[in-house]
Amino acid sequence: MMNALVNINGIICSAEEAKVSVFDRGFLFGDGVYETGKSLKRCCLFLEEHLERLRRSAGKLQIPFPLSDEEMTDEIYRTAKAFGKEDAYFRVILSRGVGLVMGLESLEDLKPTLVIIFQPLSEKLDRIRTEGLNIMTSNILRNSAAAQDPNIKTSNYLNSLLAIQEVRARGGEDAIMRDNQGNVAEGTTFSIFGITPDNSLITPSLKVGILDSITRRHVLELGRGLLKVEEGFFQLEQFQECSEVFIASSVREIVPVREWDSHKYALPGTMTEKLKIALKNEIKSYLETHRKY
Ligand SMILES: Cc1ncc(COP(=O)(O)O)c(C=O)c1O
Repeated sequence: MMNALVNINGIICSAEEAKVSVFDRGFLFGDGVYETGKSLKRCCLFLEEHLERLRRSAGKLQIPFPLSDEEMTDEIYRTAKAFGKEDAYFRVILSRGVGLVMGLESLEDLKPTLVIIFQPLSEKLDRIRTEGLNIMTSNILRNSAAAQDPNIKTSNYLNSLLAIQEVRARGGEDAIMRDNQGNVAEGTTFSIFGITPDNSLITPSLKVGILDSITRRHVLELGRGLLKVEEGFFQLEQFQECSEVFIASSVREIVPVREWDSHKYALPGTMTEKLKIALKNEIKSYLETHRKY
């Protein structure tokens, strides 16, 4: 039995009972948007930022947003409470809804499907935060923002999926993608950072065509208090010259990279550890000041 709890359009059910129509456009076309985050100590971390991004992604696809942020928070918290764990992984999915006409353009009067999933956080998280990741540069390029903008968090993750499949076949744990100019863009489900030999924090600019990651925003803000920060267009070599490299995402927080395309980085990195602690402290104060379920 799968240990997850699902809320489909307001009805809470078990993982086994959770079913959506095959005519749902999320299934037919990946026509939906989503957010992934976690709760700690019965509080959904940075939830306002997740809801703001979900609303923005939905807006870019012209999917009507069915609830106010307050109603959405209530639904998420009701599901979290029913799931009953202090710490959990959550996903909120909003698809355009069920359309019985197959055509791509049949958008009229569809009622969006809202799905909220809670499940346990992976037990591997603590271990990878210490051991670090072995990442590889994928031969699959990041989607161009002029084609399918990576800054819309759509339910279609095939670009990332192709990239991870390709590097897994070569023994990598996860993949980094570049744009068609060779600029480093982002990982399959994370953003990427480096500490240069002269102690600057570098990360690809949003202009490269990447997701406006919530953790990235927090890391940059915290980084500005500790060292020089540069968002820009960086080639692989510039990351290889770095003394430390790490990835960041909502569920994983900061995870050091121990190897990237056979280039090894010493762990633990001093700046990475400092930023890890700074992020932990920020999370702690968020938990102390925000709503609990
Ligand atoms: C492509 C991509 N980049 C970056 C991130 C990290 O974003 P966040 O910090 O908002 O979780 C994600 C998270 O899922 C992602 O899918």
